Amino acid sequence: MRIAIVKNAKELGERAFVEIKKVISEKPDAVIGFATGATPVALYEKMADDHKHGGLSYKQVKAFNLDEYVGVDPNGKASFKRFMADTLFSKIDIDPANTDIPNGMAQDLEAECARYSAAIKENPADLQILGIGENGHIAFNEPYTKPDEPTHIALLTASTRAANASAFKDPSLVPQYALTMGINEILTAKRILLLALGERKAQAIYDMIMGRDDTSCPATALRKHPDVTVVLDREAASLLTIKEWEKGSAQAEESAEAPATEQTEEAEQTPVAEQTEEAEQTPVAEQPAETEQAEEQPEVREEAAESAPEAEAETEEQVEETSAPVEEEVAESGPPTDEVPTYPEEQEEVAATYEDAGEEAEVEDLTVQEEPAQENRGKKKKKHRR
Ligand code: F6R
Repeated sequence: MRIAIVKNAKELGERAFVEIKKVISEKPDAVIGFATGATPVALYEKMADDHKHGGLSYKQVKAFNLDEYVGVDPNGKASFKRFMADTLFSKIDIDPANTDIPNGMAQDLEAECARYSAAIKENPADLQILGIGENGHIAFNEPYTKPDEPTHIALLTASTRAANASAFKDPSLVPQYALTMGINEILTAKRILLLALGERKAQAIYDMIMGRDDTSCPATALRKHPDVTVVLDREAASLLTIKEWEKGSAQAEESAEAPATEQTEEAEQTPVAEQTEEAEQTPVAEQPAETEQAEEQPEVREEAAESAPEAEAETEEQVEETSAPVEEEVAESGPPTDEVPTYPEEQEEVAATYEDAGEEAEVEDLTVQEEPAQENRGKKKKKHRR
């Protein structure tokens, strides 16, 4: 799992667009899985703007959306179908015939779910965009959904209905049911891009990355996937701790050099004594399966090596903008230690380095150009609140 922390929604949109561009540049007829909601709006704006100014074409792209409410008029403002048309599809050159979304008005909802499952199976996504619910849902797979449920009728929780109420005249009008792609169906995507903004997502993000690996937080299923990029703002990342970022960095960097077996071994052998105060306070059972993550690293490495040159250039540029001073410090002092950055401003910088660990050359080049940030050393870290 690569994690990038950005300053605001606009940067999130730009960073996420790098992933879209990479995929569609390599494969113009890519299948993209789209999400609705407030979070991806900045990405969709960036896509529309890029397209307007002669950027990417989506003529051959196929689009599948994650979910749709049951019983909502697809032409009405609250429907996800309408949201996609208004926010994105009407602003790019995608062929409407190449867009699909579950039909929440179907006479036979079970048959509609089966149709959608078959369509996804036939067209596995090259890139799946995801948001995350405050309760850790992905698509409308609410807590305790069985991962192997294919596209199904989901009963929405009270918190999900409340979070989505703004699209409806009255909160009581938020439907109780939706049709949603299943968790394992989401995992069939070649790459996954999960986006989160705001403090109200912080607990779900913590749970997804560091929490107990079970269906109480459906997003933990993403740990099984070999190619997940998570883009967060500082607030959504605010419960994560430096130590977790260190681990992420160490694994990503090691994977660029070490074969899978060595990588796994190293992860298994990490002595407890090397863990920071924060990590020690986290019950072992709540920590993510390091071995599992380590096993997945080689595929991440391959992907980084295959990245399109333009996309790499964009990533480098973004890292330069957002992370230079602390990257300098990290590069100077070797692997991050307890003394490295305070929270939250500096953590963002470190994470940006980690995110691009597979593109080490770019990061290193960048660091030598900048002034050292001596004043950042030795500040007290913020502890997570769990
Ligand atoms: C929407 C979807 C949901 C949202 C999630 C976050 O298609 O699948 O899982 O991604 O509820 O919504 P926002 O972005 O509005 O906070």
